[in-house]
Amino acid sequence: MAAWRTERVLAALGVLSVCAAISSGPLAPGEPGGEVEWAEPWDGAVFRPPAALGAVGVARGPEPPPGREHTADLPVLLWWSPGLFPHFPGDSERIECARGACLASRDRRAQAEPRTRALLFYGTDFRAADAPLPRQAHQSWALLHEESPLNNFLLSHGPGIRLFNLTATFSRHSDYPLPLQWLPGAAYLRRAAPPLRERAEWRRRGYAPLLYLQSHCDVPADRDRYVRELMRYIPVDSYGKCLQNRQLPTVRLQDTATATGEDPELLAFLSRYKFHLALENAICHDYMTEKLWRPMHLGAVPVYRGSPSVRDWMPNNHSIILIDDFESPQKLAEFIDFLDKNDEEYIKYLAYKQPGGITNQFLLDSLEHREWGVNDPLLPNYLNGFECFVCDHELARLDAEKAHASSPGDIPVPEPHVAQPSHMNCPVPTPGFGKVEEIPENDSWKEMWLQDYWQGLDQGEALTAMIHNNETQQKKFWDYLHQIFMKRNQNL
Ligand SMILES: *[C@@H]1O[C@H](CO)[C@@H](O)[C@H](O)[C@H]1NC(C)=O
Ligand SMILES: *[C@@H]1O[C@H](CO)[C@@H](O)[C@H](O)[C@H]1NC(C)=O
Ligand SMILES: *[C@@H]1O[C@H](CO)[C@@H](O)[C@H](O)[C@H]1NC(C)=O
Ligand SMILES: *[C@@H]1O[C@H](CO)[C@@H](O)[C@H](O)[C@H]1NC(C)=O
Repeated sequence: MAAWRTERVLAALGVLSVCAAISSGPLAPGEPGGEVEWAEPWDGAVFRPPAALGAVGVARGPEPPPGREHTADLPVLLWWSPGLFPHFPGDSERIECARGACLASRDRRAQAEPRTRALLFYGTDFRAADAPLPRQAHQSWALLHEESPLNNFLLSHGPGIRLFNLTATFSRHSDYPLPLQWLPGAAYLRRAAPPLRERAEWRRRGYAPLLYLQSHCDVPADRDRYVRELMRYIPVDSYGKCLQNRQLPTVRLQDTATATGEDPELLAFLSRYKFHLALENAICHDYMTEKLWRPMHLGAVPVYRGSPSVRDWMPNNHSIILIDDFESPQKLAEFIDFLDKNDEEYIKYLAYKQPGGITNQFLLDSLEHREWGVNDPLLPNYLNGFECFVCDHELARLDAEKAHASSPGDIPVPEPHVAQPSHMNCPVPTPGFGKVEEIPENDSWKEMWLQDYWQGLDQGEALTAMIHNNETQQKKFWDYLHQIFMKRNQNL
């Protein structure tokens, strides 16, 4: 084994992640909730998903019942991303879960411990250069990544996601799914819409039919390119930093701090609009945010582009307008104009607010059966929930290993459990409007996001090669990363 080469590959990986950080502009990788918290202040307006974005230290486990195991014997769950450690104060905490107890810790010295059974990672922070290597065969890797892949494209590729054994992502297919992380419940959708005549009155006073409120402008979904084109065919009032053509009416509302809370004045203002442009920052199956749910809460019709499978989650089959159903922005504009002038047709989009109007049983069941809550103090948040999920999984795996050890002839070794690409299914980014071939090579979206996407694959493959200690592959990737580094250096 050539240790020098290993070091060089690692160094190259480190260098690459620095480059990626530079190329991602204002985003701070490694800052949980970076986008929501400051780069895209409008987005957090209605409510915040639970603790992953801050409220750390909420759930102290109950005191252990008498006669339970000593803490010293418990399996250890190590939060490799220490910033997310959901306990306070201190660096370790005994947690009580359905199957039993575990010791949660954020002390990285526990990595090599035989008792450490699982490492927990936050996707936004996960960097190849910071991965705990060498990987211990007895340890599961657990990934929490509820956010958009723009924070880390490594995880959108097979070699990246398959590094993990357990996942909690926005995908319904993940082990601990969080697709409805931004939807507090069915009642949130059912809230009555303001009378249509009020909106008609705002229209008469010169409001556009469509609202756009976006302050994070360069994103993988390249949404502004589409909206810019749409604006040629129908009026859009745009209040955020992106494509801004209007000012919010008061200084207080213009203050981004106001916009990040659940501000009644802001919500009242937004509900003057009949249609809200709702474009996610990245396109992934089941990645849906408040951009989708908030207009529905306010009784507006979302004009949506985001999760390609969003229909599966809608209250009924006639509640939002999907941008991708229209062959061009012009056709979409014509349709919105038609609805704008036909109240009877428009109001059909709000039928889900009527009693019995939510007919999607899959949506209702998913809301009912999830164990975590959104802004609900009576339910666990999904950070603590996932931690217990991992604890239970490891306790079960320990039992299965013990059973196998006691009668190896009858009971097989437990099957490995490996995450799948469906746990974070984000297709190659495409331009918001037009074809990728038509976009010049020096276009910022192409230079930034398309490159980032493919570099995510390279990093995943490089890290896999490191873990499997495959010298041939390591050499190949070192050469590759070196090339990128040289190229980047020339460009800087
Ligand atoms: C919507 O659902 C209704 C009732 O199930 C059905 O009759 C109708 O064809 C559906 N419409 C679309 C566009 O799928
Ligand atoms: C965890 O995933 C890796 C692949 O990344 C696999 O080799 C290993 O067997 C899995 N471990 C368990 C305990 O399932
Ligand atoms: C991209 O290249 C074209 C022609 O090579 C040039 O006219 C244009 O200014 C460049 N755009 C940017 C953003 O650099
Ligand atoms: C190392 O990687 C190469 C290229 O992917 C592959 O052909 C080879 O079988 C691997 N060797 C080992 C020992 O896994």
